[in-house]
Amino acid sequence: MSPFTQSLLVICVLTFLSMHNVIGETTDRQIVVYNSLEGRLNLTLRCQSKDDDFGFHDLQPDEHFGWNFNVNIIHTTLYFCSVKWNNEFHHFDAFRYNRDRYRFVLYWYIKEAGPCVVSAEGINGCYPWK
Ligand SMILES: *[C@@H]1O[C@H](CO)[C@@H](O)[C@H](O)[C@H]1NC(C)=O
Repeated sequence: MSPFTQSLLVICVLTFLSMHNVIGETTDRQIVVYNSLEGRLNLTLRCQSKDDDFGFHDLQPDEHFGWNFNVNIIHTTLYFCSVKWNNEFHHFDAFRYNRDRYRFVLYWYIKEAGPCVVSAEGINGCYPWK
């Protein structure tokens, strides 16, 4: 095998592994989503990525649902969630690499006006619904 073919093969294998999250950046990340609706209503949460679907979770006031993940090597990691209560139905991105790369532990608080994130790194913010 020529050195060029070898390099190409290595690149292909790395790309494949990273796309399937077999290898990621070394640090594990964590997301936890809380039902923080001020009206103390039940919330139905569903979070997904290209590869994962965590299904529907009914959260009573202050209950939470969370998961751990690694970002992929090509930096396309995206987790998006839908939330539903009464007749309201909204979406938000729970992790988007470009926005969240410096956040490692993310606590999302779902409020009527939109989701608010508090990160262990102190990068906090509230966002309007998408
Ligand atoms: C929320 O869900 C629980 C468990 O299903 C139920 O007992 C309760 O009545 C619900 N609360 C509201 C405000 O709908």
